[in-house]
Amino acid sequence: MGVNLTTLCENTSSGFGISGEWGLSIMVDTGEAVVLLDTGFSDSLVRNARFKEIDLKRVTHVVLSHGHGDHTGGLRSLLQETHKKVNIIAHPEIWGSKYSRLEKENGDRYQYIGVPFRREELESLGASFILSKEPFWLNEHMVTTGEVPMLTAFEKVDQNMYLKTENGFVPDPLVDDQALVIKTAKGLVIILGCAHRGMVNTMIHAREITGEERIYAVVGGTHLIRAGTEQLAKTVEKINEFGVEKLGVSHCTGLLPATVLAREFEDKFFFNNAGVSIEI
Ligand SMILES: [Fe+2]
Ligand SMILES: [Fe+2]
Repeated sequence: MGVNLTTLCENTSSGFGISGEWGLSIMVDTGEAVVLLDTGFSDSLVRNARFKEIDLKRVTHVVLSHGHGDHTGGLRSLLQETHKKVNIIAHPEIWGSKYSRLEKENGDRYQYIGVPFRREELESLGASFILSKEPFWLNEHMVTTGEVPMLTAFEKVDQNMYLKTENGFVPDPLVDDQALVIKTAKGLVIILGCAHRGMVNTMIHAREITGEERIYAVVGGTHLIRAGTEQLAKTVEKINEFGVEKLGVSHCTGLLPATVLAREFEDKFFFNNAGVSIEI
């Protein structure tokens, strides 16, 4: 089974005619299924797909990696473009009231960063939500991780993420964070949204739920943007230990951590920006 990965929304454009936008959307085409992991922040997914002459009506499933607006904000434009029923697989907690904390001189402020639509609006446009905390098998080759256990000592959920509750703002454990995993003849291909629960935790969990030890490729947002030297070093150690052959980083990886990974992994590394397409 061949797998084509095409990144339709990402922070940085890879070339002429492609728009960059803070967010992420990666299309996974195996022939038998066409799955979008996330939908970016607004409409760059649709514009970039049109520019690349990719027919979004071919999309069979959408998997949401978590409920942040830079991953779910393209849902309306996607549904308006496809005009059909689309199964959307996500964790039930994507609907949490998600905020980020902004530290200001005159006190903290909180900015809403959750799903920018009501569920009813998306359903009226064709969305059919399948909400699951557990791994969800789309077919025999593709599975979502469901909730990712926090196993490593060096990975923590970003301290600036909050949930608004009846008792005020409380830290968001991002239990809704998940990745999409594809079983291929070469090993696992893991597509990360933001990896808020940790890139290595996600890799460990992907091996656990598929029973496949080999990880061939890891592509997407690694959320190393605020990682210290120690976390980066331990992450590099684990990527080596798991024998990852291709590492394509995007979005919340951050440019400085990306340069460390680029130096470390040389020709196995690539910048997975908007417009990049790879065949596995
Ligand atoms: Fe996020
Ligand atoms: Fe993000």
